[in-house]
Amino acid sequence: MKKIVINGGRPLKGEVIINGAKNSVVALIPAVILADDTVILDGVPNISDVDSLIDIMEAMGASIKRVEDSLEIDPRGIKNMPMPFGKINSLRASYYFYGSLLGRYGEATVGLPGGCDLGPRPIDLHLKAFEAMGAKMTMDGNYMNLSTGGKQLVGASIYMDTVSVGATINTILAAVKAKGRTIIENAAREPEIIDVATLLNNMGAHIRGAGTDIIIIEGVERLHGTRHQVIPDRIEAGTYIALAAAIGEGIQINNVLYEHLESFIAKLEEMGVRMTISEDSVFVEKQTDLRAISIKTSPYPGFATDLQQPITPLLLTARGHGKIIDTIYEKRVNHVAELAKMSGRISTASNQIVYEGPNQLHGASVKATDLRAGAALVIAGLMAEGQTEITNVEFILRGYSNIIKKLRSLGADIQLIEE
Ligand code: UD1
Repeated sequence: MKKIVINGGRPLKGEVIINGAKNSVVALIPAVILADDTVILDGVPNISDVDSLIDIMEAMGASIKRVEDSLEIDPRGIKNMPMPFGKINSLRASYYFYGSLLGRYGEATVGLPGGCDLGPRPIDLHLKAFEAMGAKMTMDGNYMNLSTGGKQLVGASIYMDTVSVGATINTILAAVKAKGRTIIENAAREPEIIDVATLLNNMGAHIRGAGTDIIIIEGVERLHGTRHQVIPDRIEAGTYIALAAAIGEGIQINNVLYEHLESFIAKLEEMGVRMTISEDSVFVEKQTDLRAISIKTSPYPGFATDLQQPITPLLLTARGHGKIIDTIYEKRVNHVAELAKMSGRISTASNQIVYEGPNQLHGASVKATDLRAGAALVIAGLMAEGQTEITNVEFILRGYSNIIKKLRSLGADIQLIEE
């Protein structure tokens, strides 16, 4: 068991460097299964989801070298084997093994994905796409088998009933080596999808339209090795920007692609936050007299659901009333009760979060119920008067690279304690 202890209210200032995107890298690593040769990924974040994926890939026979933030993955020893339990259930993105194993072997036996509890998280769209390409699904306890019965997957026209990041990427993974053309309509447009398509195209795949809502994939026979730089993590960047706007005495956040954060930055500007935005960095200082705003999350390029929780402590410093509506995960509200324990005037009412400010937060014992809720509590703890103790911090370490080290370098009094 690990916990984080924060003595809040310290002035934070300096620079922080954003790492490669978690939601990209969790797809890029399984994508390497489709290659016939070594792939090097640069800019890989130091997070426990990556450690879990490395363990899974090594258990399957991949040979992996990790030097600083580069991963060299040689997939030639990989064997298709059932992966029903263990690490698979520790992360949501293990569903990408369905797409990449099906794409390479026409068969996958993998446990049901785990991950954060944000309410119901079905994978029906992933399965619908695999079935359209010729795979049959059978369930055995809590693992699932997908098989083409020894045949090659065949390209298909697939309409996504809901815009889904995971289903779009998984369909691409299955389709890159399928026979013929696959068309995905109503595809998700997140930057991580472009990143995965870029890697696959550099491996020899033929994918057009990534980043738009129609993606066309012409199947190819072979994929080769390549070297790829992971895009910066826009959610990590947004988290540090929100932190800097709430309590920073001048914080520069480096390795940020502003274009990936336009809706987030627009909402901060609506509150009155002033930022200096350069080509690949954002400089932010705390301001007084921020205005309360309302936020509605939606698929990219809308306001990201993953930034709804990290921005909440900042909202609590603003004057007035506001609400948050999460249209992607309406049950993504677990941070609310914890922030209320820290004297935040915030509550939930019929799937909306309502708040009133300004608030002076006070330290408390709180629980990180999921990754981004955990990030919200870290920011709240740094803002609060007194000591905050956060339990269940394994969730936070799944997705925030070197978070303790980065915050300490800004001057935070924060410790990770293993019990
Ligand atoms: C990804 C991100 C997660 C982010 C989410 C939404 C990864 C590893 N995780 O999750 O951080 O919060 O996108 O931006 O990249 N849905 C269905 N059926 C499906 C699949 C999804 O109904 O088969 C629904 C979901 O319940 C949700 C919506 O579609 O309401 C979007 O989910 P999706 O984009 O698939 O989320 P994930 O890929 O799981």
